[in-house]
Amino acid sequence: MLGLIIAVILIVLPLTVSLQDDPCNSYRMLSDDGGRSIKCDLYYSDSHDRFIDEGWRRVQLESTGEDLTMPTMCVPSGFCGSHSNVWLDGSHPTVEDGIVDRMGCLSSHPTVEDDIVDRMGCLSMSSSCCKVKYPIQIKNCTDYMVYNLKRTSGSDQRYCFGDSNDCYLTTRPTTDSSNTQGNRRNRHGFGSDYQKDDMITILGVCLTIAIAALFVLAFCIFCYFRQRKLQYELDTKPTKA
Ligand SMILES: *[C@@H]1O[C@H](CO)[C@@H](O)[C@H](O)[C@H]1NC(C)=O
Repeated sequence: MLGLIIAVILIVLPLTVSLQDDPCNSYRMLSDDGGRSIKCDLYYSDSHDRFIDEGWRRVQLESTGEDLTMPTMCVPSGFCGSHSNVWLDGSHPTVEDGIVDRMGCLSSHPTVEDDIVDRMGCLSMSSSCCKVKYPIQIKNCTDYMVYNLKRTSGSDQRYCFGDSNDCYLTTRPTTDSSNTQGNRRNRHGFGSDYQKDDMITILGVCLTIAIAALFVLAFCIFCYFRQRKLQYELDTKPTKA
């Protein structure tokens, strides 16, 4: 009898321990009011993850209960409800992959709306899609993802989650009187073709500068030879006279 009890304990104990160890069963919720979305600019939240409770998190949109995942491409700064955002530099795992190690990248990349100098990545020193790296662990729990998140170091850095248009305004009072949705407003942020758009702009600006430089150079050469010709005519005049 005693042997049976010990046997049961020996079987059940590792099982419960392994269940507790599995982040799919021992995560904490991270409810998002919409501010973390790639579509929501910093005015909708202007928050940060500097004091976030570290550990395994399942992230859901507060209004719908929809599970959210991190974007896997560079998000321009000023979105995800903060000045700089952390996006996932890598892919999401499958269930079979178990717990995987990934890197989160802090983006300070300028937005499409920013001025022309900022948009030229080559000129702006602070522009980067991966200014700082944060280690992130991820597990695919079939119906949802869990992320092991670290605190961000700056109070203007926040983890990006989801792509909802449902941005919740928490800091800036709404002035739009025709807004019947109250604080919730739809906003179309940058699209998935943002990087392409930005590349075209950078190429366009660089090309324009190159052509302008060529014109200046041509004008200088023209002036130089004209000067030399005048000088030559001046020098040769007295001998003619
Ligand atoms: C989770 O894993 C399954 C297969 O194991 C895959 O089909 C699904 O796309 C994964 N979820 C995400 C968000 O990548």
